Amino acid sequence: MSVDTLLPAALDRAALAGWYTANRRRSADLFGLIDPDLLYSAPIPLRHPFVFYIGHFPAFSFLTFVRDALGEASIDRRLEDLFNRGIDPDSLDTARTHARSDWPPLSDVAAFAAACDERVLAAYATARLDDPAQPRLERAQAAYTILEHEEMHHETLLYIVHRLPDARKRIVGGAHRDVPVAPREPIFVPAGPATLGAAPDTLPFTWDNERGEHRVDVGAFGCDVYDVTNGEYLAFVRDGGPPPPFWVESETGGWALRTLAATIPLPLSWPVYCTNAQADAFARWSGARLMTEPEYHRAAYGTPSGDERLQPWGGADADPTRGNFDLRRFDPEPVGSYPNGVSAWGIHDLVGNGWEWTSTPFAPFAGFEPMATYPPYSADFFDGEHYVIKGASPVTSRNLVRRSFRNWYRREYPYMYATFRRAWA
Ligand code: AVJ
Ligand code: FE
Repeated sequence: MSVDTLLPAALDRAALAGWYTANRRRSADLFGLIDPDLLYSAPIPLRHPFVFYIGHFPAFSFLTFVRDALGEASIDRRLEDLFNRGIDPDSLDTARTHARSDWPPLSDVAAFAAACDERVLAAYATARLDDPAQPRLERAQAAYTILEHEEMHHETLLYIVHRLPDARKRIVGGAHRDVPVAPREPIFVPAGPATLGAAPDTLPFTWDNERGEHRVDVGAFGCDVYDVTNGEYLAFVRDGGPPPPFWVESETGGWALRTLAATIPLPLSWPVYCTNAQADAFARWSGARLMTEPEYHRAAYGTPSGDERLQPWGGADADPTRGNFDLRRFDPEPVGSYPNGVSAWGIHDLVGNGWEWTSTPFAPFAGFEPMATYPPYSADFFDGEHYVIKGASPVTSRNLVRRSFRNWYRREYPYMYATFRRAWA
């Protein structure tokens, strides 16, 4: 498809502005889950306090799109610098050097955020959004960057909210289902192709790390039909394995699970959320290993004929019957709850119900170039210490549910909603 045929539909100004407004509303809803007395607290010591994120989402949007891509005037230099970029540093020592105690009062942050929003919406209404001669505006890159940026932050914000004490959150917990899961034999995936990355003109927007469509030949392997469950992981803990970060041990020696809203008896049929190191340790303990990024692609998008799909279930949209994603709920569901989402091999939950850890270090595809709107977005993390996660969690927007999308975290990062399945080769 040529750029000409994509742009008119992709550049529907009203649709982009509507997406921005929906993001802002969702941000407000999520900040509303937090006890207002705690907005200056930082439950994850490596990350800034909540107030930073209240300013960061609109600041990043204004700076990236309006000030830096369109070249328009500043609103407030001091606040722009303060809220420009959040860090997830490698150590508490580095975090301390970024720490500050002089965050502005909420009323100042809210006024600045409103000014940013006004300027962004004005730009969506009237500015030139695409300009092939200007890297930041090529194919309307800036107009899209800020939309997906805020949606990613909805997820990371929830990881931080998750760490607050249950009594300090304003969340009505939903019903939790737990069901018996019959053990299943691994599924055999024969050798064949996997396509990673996306060609730049096949999607309205891609992040820099997903550009560069290329084919990888994947050897035959066996693959778990379901993600490893809490119940399966419990046997490892009883054998001395490390307890996952969301588990809480009771005085009587049983285990509970900290969900976003409440601490509940450990649902044995839910995918276990744990670190990459724990997933790797469990896999080895049970005589297996983690999947690689190309194996994930082959399991999710490959087919017996050799053709590849855009989604595990085929070419249809990521509607609510396909998996547990898009913030319809905050928590996981029993593995195998979405038969409409299975891949061609009959493998469940590859998209939704928890990101999937891989053993592949996050690295650039051939021809990688940092994106003009946000050069450090990926490049800062090609350090061999981050691992690719694929798929989606319950709180990943459906707008991010695409084959080429890649996410990444450190091996020991304990906060995000990532699970895993094993491979045998
Ligand atoms: C791609 C989710 C790892 O949250 O650290 C947000 C996304 N980058 N603002 C992160 C991001 C800058 C990033 N992840
Ligand atoms: Fe950010």
